[in-house]
Amino acid sequence: VSVATEDIPVRMPSYECQRITALKHHNHRFTTALELLEEHAGYQGGGQRADSRARGFRRASCTLKSLSHPLTSIEQAGKLPNIGPHSLAVIKDILEDGYSQEVQDICDGDFYNTMQLFTGIFGIGCSTARKWYEKGFRTLDDIRNDSTITLRKDQKIGLELYQDLNTPVTLAEANIIQELVKAEVQRLQPGATVVLTGGFRRGKTEGHDVDLLISHPTEGKETGLLSAVLARLRRKNLLAYESTTANTYDPSTVTKKEYTLDHFERCFSIFKFDKSWISSKPTSQSPPGVVKPGTSNPDLPHQGDRVSLGTAGGSDGESTAEKAWVGRRVDLIIAPASQYAYALVGWTGSKYFNRSARLYAEREMNMKLTSHVLYDPVKNQYLSASSEEDVFRHLQLPYREPTERNC
Ligand code: GTP
Ligand code: MN
Ligand code: MN
Repeated sequence: VSVATEDIPVRMPSYECQRITALKHHNHRFTTALELLEEHAGYQGGGQRADSRARGFRRASCTLKSLSHPLTSIEQAGKLPNIGPHSLAVIKDILEDGYSQEVQDICDGDFYNTMQLFTGIFGIGCSTARKWYEKGFRTLDDIRNDSTITLRKDQKIGLELYQDLNTPVTLAEANIIQELVKAEVQRLQPGATVVLTGGFRRGKTEGHDVDLLISHPTEGKETGLLSAVLARLRRKNLLAYESTTANTYDPSTVTKKEYTLDHFERCFSIFKFDKSWISSKPTSQSPPGVVKPGTSNPDLPHQGDRVSLGTAGGSDGESTAEKAWVGRRVDLIIAPASQYAYALVGWTGSKYFNRSARLYAEREMNMKLTSHVLYDPVKNQYLSASSEEDVFRHLQLPYREPTERNC
């Protein structure tokens, strides 16, 4: 007897962290649309309301990603968890017409496209991007050429390296950067570990940055490591930008504060990734140093422009139009051994997996989960974990591989 997939009863737990969510799934035609709506809702002003609207689309999308077969009926969608009325209407349109007019209109609109362009600038968030949109700015040159705009150092570099930073980082590049940092770290502190986390650890082959979690099996030996590593990288002229934040972790605040961000010592940086480190394309091109006629893409650095990064960037010798490196965003995070397992879960993500795990911990387990620790307020106990498996066990969740946390 053959049973149509829509007749199979679906039992799906409502927390994303209770489910398996792989990168590849059966419902991309819905999830692409829903995540565009999420992005668009996030661009809107209005603080928490906009955020929760955005999250609604994301949760619906996550549900469809966890579904073991293609969705074929609106009735079944209606029985799945976390799909609100707006998402349901969009799903219905796609089922019936093959597309959603609402999504199409957003895609075709000035607002969405301009917001995407401006928030793609490193250092620019939604509110600045929206302000610029409302003033009538539409292109990067509008921003570059307006004398009334003053940009922070990170935002200036974001504009200068716009093209670089909006070209996805490949896994091959991420591995090279990880090896490079590991070599420096281990020179300074033998036995120290450098792990590629973030999207790459979840199996993605491209990402917007490289997330490296640095630790040492002996608690305390990670102290001072970040600034020493940065000094070495700086001396080798490998950094175009760096911004370090000190460790502000205080275990006693775990119960009080809303822990969405963590408190590890970290550096948000831009590496100068030497183009010669990788040969992604066979080079039938001009030899190094020869400038080829530029393209007409207005968002490419202007032909003849010198990519000068002032104090943050290249040495004075670098005055050629085409630089020898590509800017790559790298996050370096330092975790002490005792917090490492929680840091690894936290920095592996996805963001929505973490979010659901925290909600689950709070509502179902009456515990507080952070990237530092799991705290049981009833027993007044910090639960120690030496592996990711320990973290899942403490939460009474079935273990999920990083590749299964792609919600
Ligand atoms: P791409 O970089 O776009 O490929 O995706 P990603 O999943 O790697 O995203 P991102 O680099 O932004 O973040 C990596 C992981 O670190 C995600 O799970 C984030 O939730 C997490 N993360 C980012 N910033 C912070 C932070 O300040 N604190 C904590 N605890 N986690 C963070
Ligand atoms: Mn990342
Ligand atoms: Mn990151």
